[in-house]
Amino acid sequence: MERKIKVAQLLPIAGLIVLVIGCPLNAQPALKGAFKHAFYIGTALNRNQITGADKNSVAIVEKHFNSITAENILKWVYVHPEPTRYDFAPADSFVAFGEKNKMFIVGHTLVWHNQTPRWVFADDAGKPVDRETLLQRMKEHILTVAGRYKGRIHGWDVVNEAVEDDGQLRQSKWLQIIGEDYLQKAFEWAHEADPKAELYYNDYNMWHTGKRQTVIRLVRELQSKGVRIDGIGMQGHWGMDYPPLDELETSLLAYAELGVKVMITELDINILPNPGSHQGADITQNYALQQELNPYAAGLPDSMQAKLASRYAELFKILYKHRDKITRVTFWGVHDGVSWHNNWPVRGRTAYSLLFDRKYQPKPAFDAVIRIAGGE
Ligand code: G3I
Repeated sequence: MERKIKVAQLLPIAGLIVLVIGCPLNAQPALKGAFKHAFYIGTALNRNQITGADKNSVAIVEKHFNSITAENILKWVYVHPEPTRYDFAPADSFVAFGEKNKMFIVGHTLVWHNQTPRWVFADDAGKPVDRETLLQRMKEHILTVAGRYKGRIHGWDVVNEAVEDDGQLRQSKWLQIIGEDYLQKAFEWAHEADPKAELYYNDYNMWHTGKRQTVIRLVRELQSKGVRIDGIGMQGHWGMDYPPLDELETSLLAYAELGVKVMITELDINILPNPGSHQGADITQNYALQQELNPYAAGLPDSMQAKLASRYAELFKILYKHRDKITRVTFWGVHDGVSWHNNWPVRGRTAYSLLFDRKYQPKPAFDAVIRIAGGE
């Protein structure tokens, strides 16, 4: 007589299979599905993902995300490396990938003090150029790059990280040579290049009072001059003990008060010890590897996975609570193996900042985030 095998008897075997080979992609609840009534769920794409070389990451991106941001290939140093040379091939592939998957496509970033080639700010003799020359160079770059993807890139990080944590304007070459109106010019030219694209100001440590007050002043000034600015990007490079939840909530509500969209644009949670009292994302601060700063090189203990999961949960609870003001949450990378935290602020570490591990498997933090949305 045929013996009926009960489902319950199969569960331990299924559990063992998942333990050994992981949870197959098609069996995972999709992040974008869980949050489809809340906000876009995005990720940053690196070169290997854009070219399709990293097939495993591409499979995760297509399954879980409905927005993509170019991690590096649309930065000035990569897309416009020399005065008369542009390299659009990677960005063309990036936009094509986003269109094929019907995603919200984000260009990052037009004006930044980092990753901008030295020639932009110097004349042939290597001396700083004057205001008019630098304005002309900024205008040509923005009209050429944003213009090329007119109607195809849906949102641009127009200006990135122009304000210090204490609220002072960053003393970048943009500010020193042009003056404070470089921000207004950047937004005006981005709008001229692509009248339909959403235009954002993007920065890190956006919960700091000083920075928040200055960003609010800058946005209000642009609005009072009729300059289009659609959103504020709070980058979201957070840690286990920063930002304080109340300060995060205060800040995102203050930005929303301006009548602009609020986005978390570069979310990752650094579980590794920080050298000094480092917070944020100023990549110019980098430290040599010391063992005590790399405590989980052999793997993240379950206890730390659980701590990371509950940190993601408490932060996502706030984002989900204010889903009427937040239009996008973008993770800064697909899985732990490609996180910038593997090399910043300490070079050569083993980081665990994202929702998928180095074997492309969802971590307990993934489950914790899905549960916030009711785990559809
Ligand atoms: O592509 C080259 C490779 O050919 C070379 O062998 C290698 C070794 O030097 O460098 C590679 O380029 C690196 C690039 O990432 C791609 O991996 C650059 O050196 C490195 O500086 C660059 O770092 C990026 C950093 O911005 C600076 O642009 C990180 O990937 C990226 O995650 C990080 O992202 C920034 C946001 O744009 C702005 N907000 C802060 C965030 C974190 O710093």
